[in-house]
Amino acid sequence: MKNIAIIGTGYVGLVTGVCLSEIGHHVTCVDIDQAKIETLQQGISPIYEPGLEELTKDNVQRGRLHFTTSYHQAFAEAEVIFIAVGTPQNPDGSANLTYVQQVSEQIGRHLTRRDTVIVTKSTVPVGTNRKVRDWIISQAPVDTRIHTVSNPEFLREGSAVQDTFQGDRIVIGTDSPFASILMEEVYSPFGLPIFSTDIESAELIKYASNAFLATKISFINEIANLCEKLGANVEDVAAGMGMDTRIGSQFLRAGIGYGGSCFPKDTKALVQLAGDVQHNFDLLESVIRVNHEQQRKLFTKAMEVLGSLQGKRIAMLGLAFKPNTDDMREAASLILIEELQKAGADIIAYDPIAMKKAQAILGDTIEYSQSVTECIQNADAAMIVTEWEDIKNTPLSTYVEQMKTPVILDGRNCYTIEEAAGYPVSYYSIGRPSSTT
Ligand code: UDX
Repeated sequence: MKNIAIIGTGYVGLVTGVCLSEIGHHVTCVDIDQAKIETLQQGISPIYEPGLEELTKDNVQRGRLHFTTSYHQAFAEAEVIFIAVGTPQNPDGSANLTYVQQVSEQIGRHLTRRDTVIVTKSTVPVGTNRKVRDWIISQAPVDTRIHTVSNPEFLREGSAVQDTFQGDRIVIGTDSPFASILMEEVYSPFGLPIFSTDIESAELIKYASNAFLATKISFINEIANLCEKLGANVEDVAAGMGMDTRIGSQFLRAGIGYGGSCFPKDTKALVQLAGDVQHNFDLLESVIRVNHEQQRKLFTKAMEVLGSLQGKRIAMLGLAFKPNTDDMREAASLILIEELQKAGADIIAYDPIAMKKAQAILGDTIEYSQSVTECIQNADAAMIVTEWEDIKNTPLSTYVEQMKTPVILDGRNCYTIEEAAGYPVSYYSIGRPSSTT
């Protein structure tokens, strides 16, 4: 078992650290955020992620998992150092590498071993791992040997722990045989397929994968928009397409576009990266444009259905960018709220988990409610934005009983057309025929 240091206890760093300790490695996670480290030392997870807190507590108790703000302490014994700090978006869409550079220089200053393997988990543009090496070496003792590895992660929020143990592949990009052997040792207990390649290809695999998944989503959303005009049903179209194993049935759920911390950022960064080498990635630019429109789709529908939105009470069901997370980054809800407010609507929102995070962003510009039933009371229209279980399972009769006018704009196709037709509701969904009373 290895001595591992992980820098950054955000989503990627924390999940990676906890899971590596669970398979028996000795892991020290380091972060500059003192409050966060203190919370983690008590075994409390600062993010909502199923299973994470239990594993954190358990491994802290077993003495395999440590949290510290001291680089010195974290790197003292480390054979492998993972960089998992944020790469936020620059105003032009490119990835900001300030944090990666800062921690690389810190690594250089604190190295004690002759050979250290440095693994980049953060999503970084092609070429960054080479820079990481230079940044470290610029600060390190002269005889230090740095072995860099690009090891992108493919975790989904809401199932990050499960994805780590049951992922489709582990990608390891390195030109160092020393690092290659060590990484095999680190990851082999997971029993997952390991794909080994060069550094640049590994860096690009992450961007290409996310861009491809985003393309699938924008593609099916365009088909959905076409379905609405042609009278077809996008769910049947997607099901029929997905039966072709070359296409596959996953990521063909039409809706109100993709959000979250990865797809919007990574698609823009890849366009930028392509531009840097004079390549026009027109296809991906269209994917981004389609998503921009799709995230506003429920607003457009509300305008069509209700006419003026001035003084209308709109119930927003779901705020997080997807279910099982409290993450509000690039959530369609935020875009919709802005558009609706500009048009004069009053908004009352409900989300089972993300309300606190939403409140930190939106303050008292909207009303908040504690349940679906309370949220839709006296509303002129309800917008289903996130397909949480309790939202999906709300009987349509509740809308009929509670709303001023039972107009449902379902951005996640939570009800079947047949179900909706059985109630006196006006039901509009994505890429399917509407049923109006
Ligand atoms: C994604 C990738 O799946 C993961 O591999 C990568 O490491 C990080 O980005 P995540 O952002 O957690 O993970 O969410 P994901 O479940 O992939 O969904 C992303 C967005 O796409 C959500 O807004 C979701 O609602 C939307 N989506 C997904 C669709 O609209 N339709 C689909 O069929 C699938």
